[in-house]
Amino acid sequence: MKVEMTQQSRLKDIDFNNLPFGKNMSDHMLVCHFKNGAWQEPEIRPYGQLEFSYGLHALHYGQSAFEGMKAYRKDNGAVSMFRPLDNFARLNKSAERLMIPQIPEHVFMEGLSKLLELDQAWIPKTEDHSLYIRPFVFASSEFIAARQSDDYTFCIITSPVGPYYNGSVKVKIEQEFSRAASGGIGYTKAAGNYGGAFYPTSKAIEEGYNQVIWTDHKEHKYIEESGTMNLMLLVDGVFLTPPLTDRILAGVTRRSIIQLIKDQGWPLEERPITVEELVMAAREGKLQEAFGMGTAAVVSQIDTIGYNGENFSIPVPENGKAMDIKKLLTDIRMGRSEDCYGWMMDLPISSK
Ligand SMILES: Cc1ncc(COP(=O)(O)O)c(C=O)c1O
Repeated sequence: MKVEMTQQSRLKDIDFNNLPFGKNMSDHMLVCHFKNGAWQEPEIRPYGQLEFSYGLHALHYGQSAFEGMKAYRKDNGAVSMFRPLDNFARLNKSAERLMIPQIPEHVFMEGLSKLLELDQAWIPKTEDHSLYIRPFVFASSEFIAARQSDDYTFCIITSPVGPYYNGSVKVKIEQEFSRAASGGIGYTKAAGNYGGAFYPTSKAIEEGYNQVIWTDHKEHKYIEESGTMNLMLLVDGVFLTPPLTDRILAGVTRRSIIQLIKDQGWPLEERPITVEELVMAAREGKLQEAFGMGTAAVVSQIDTIGYNGENFSIPVPENGKAMDIKKLLTDIRMGRSEDCYGWMMDLPISSK
């Protein structure tokens, strides 16, 4: 792997006590081009500008996918990634559906490790802070014809981040727009899935909510996801979450939390949940907690659910199950409890 180090680190300009999400990119990035039918030698270089013409295929046809994951500074100073192979596998699943060539594991994993080693001073040491990692791949031929690209570019950029959401959120059950349809690309992290979600989300924000709860595209009868997070409910002492379909992104956080819930011996059902059931539970006070699960916020408690113009308050207990789960996960990530699942991958580097 070629490595070109930055001549001037930007680290001293960063206020680690005030980190807007995803704005401050670390000094270096990984870049690997797919050309003439093969992935070329990856290189690490200073974070910088794109070098493509305006015919860049991805800009026109959206053949592009990304990942979101985090590296942590454990209490003992070690730098550790959370389930990076899960994100690698999901990126290639997205790539397959989007006709993007499979990214070799060594390009992803060795590139990531080297990048973190070089930029380890960018990994925050403060509680609830981490280094957000954004691998992405895009069609990089320069022609405008609606067929798949010949060339592709895979990159990894990173950004130190603090907590994603401030406090609990108010969500609206979406009854008009859809995020995904059966047979479509909802289960991938295709860039276009996010571009298509901004409009309905901004409508919900205009109405005083923070996010939407997506429902099925056919009847808006079943709940699916909460914004860019998977959804978990606690109804009458039972955890409920919708089952994975090709319309839902299989969250790494969701998978981890399901495991943790099961291992606490708490009852959990992965099954279709109707809007009616959710609204009824909220109305009758049986909905004890509701939260989103995702890399960015880990656990994001929901305090209000809006449906048909009616708002239902949901308890957001400080010592409830959502916070218990967040602590279980945080303790594993920070090395405070035993990682009996083998989720953490420590970097073999000296801590700085
Ligand atoms: C649509 C959507 N659902 C769910 C998730 C949660 O996935 P993960 O836990 O892997 O971050 C994300 C975030 O990546 C997302 O964008």
